[in-house]
Amino acid sequence: MKAAICTKYGPPEVLEIMEVEKPVPGDDEVLIKIHATTVHVGDTKLRGFRPGMGKVQDFFFKPIMRFMVGFKGPRKKILGMELAGEIEAAGKNVQRFTPGDKVFAATEMNFGAYAEYICLDEHRVLEKIPTGISYEEAAPISNGGITALRFMRKANIQKDQKILIYGASGSVGTFAVQLAKFFEAEVSGVCSTANLDLVRSIGADRVFDYTQDDMTGHAETYDVIFDAVGKASPTLYRKLLKPGGIYLNVLKSSGGLKLKTEELSFLQSLMEQGKFKAVIDTRFPFEKIVEAHRYVDGGHKKGNVIITMEPEVE
Ligand SMILES: NC(=O)c1ccc[n+]([C@@H]2O[C@H](COP(=O)([O-])OP(=O)(O)OC[C@H]3O[C@@H](n4cnc5c(N)ncnc54)[C@H](OP(=O)(O)O)[C@@H]3O)[C@@H](O)[C@H]2O)c1
Repeated sequence: MKAAICTKYGPPEVLEIMEVEKPVPGDDEVLIKIHATTVHVGDTKLRGFRPGMGKVQDFFFKPIMRFMVGFKGPRKKILGMELAGEIEAAGKNVQRFTPGDKVFAATEMNFGAYAEYICLDEHRVLEKIPTGISYEEAAPISNGGITALRFMRKANIQKDQKILIYGASGSVGTFAVQLAKFFEAEVSGVCSTANLDLVRSIGADRVFDYTQDDMTGHAETYDVIFDAVGKASPTLYRKLLKPGGIYLNVLKSSGGLKLKTEELSFLQSLMEQGKFKAVIDTRFPFEKIVEAHRYVDGGHKKGNVIITMEPEVE
């Protein structure tokens, strides 16, 4: 099968599409033919060897990161953390799925979604795609959606509470806006001029343009401030948070690396009810994965960037 191999740490060009052996499912595993995957920020951070936690934290964390993920290049050579596809075969103990099921999944720290096929344990973060949702719409849900859900749960977001979501146009941000609305909060989103309409369209009650207004002079205060890109200034949240309010930053603990099937099932049910969807910025064919990484490295994607596995139509 074809897979994009991360040959070493570096710029997008270190990704090369090669032929590798097609995996064979174990007794508890399903073999999935991947139709769509994403360029997740986690993929670009690993490829570029950029922890992205802040200058000082990165300096101390990089040596540890080499031990954890590989010295000169990632030990997991096939990147890709999110996918959607069709089950082609199932191991003898598999009960939740049968061949032909359309599924979406997170691969977590095992990566592996930049390939035509992957094997996943049926009990991991894997669910059926709701009817009417395409592979491209389902692929980005697992990681970004679960991350946003975790922060909304951590904030214990309640009806009529005021929440400010900073960086509302990114993957985590667009999911967080929708979830906060689902929990009936009053949502304000912060993004740049070009994304104001997008953030409004996914449910934000109010939008603020960070390129025109630093907001620190606003009189309005919030019960919860969620920084979904880790770029809000400390002055902003100190001035705008109500006494006793909750400030959360996506770069700080999101509740551990291990995602839960229950979290994906919750999002699956919201998708079924038409209350949760992925915002898609651009779709790239698999052969253009280097370009796709270059685009995401720019740091301004709107929602999610999709990689489709079907060959490009000229
Ligand atoms: N996605 C996940 O599943 C996940 C999980 C855990 C942790 N994280 C971490 O969370 C962070 C965000 O991830 P993501 O996937 O949501 O990123 P992303 O989609 O790449 O974020 C891009 C968005 O950030 C906005 N942005 C950039 N600079 C900004 C600024 N100064 N102020 C306000 N908005 C700004 C951009 O909007 P403009 O173009 O308008 O600037 C763009 O829409 C990353 O550090 C990531 O590692 C992500």
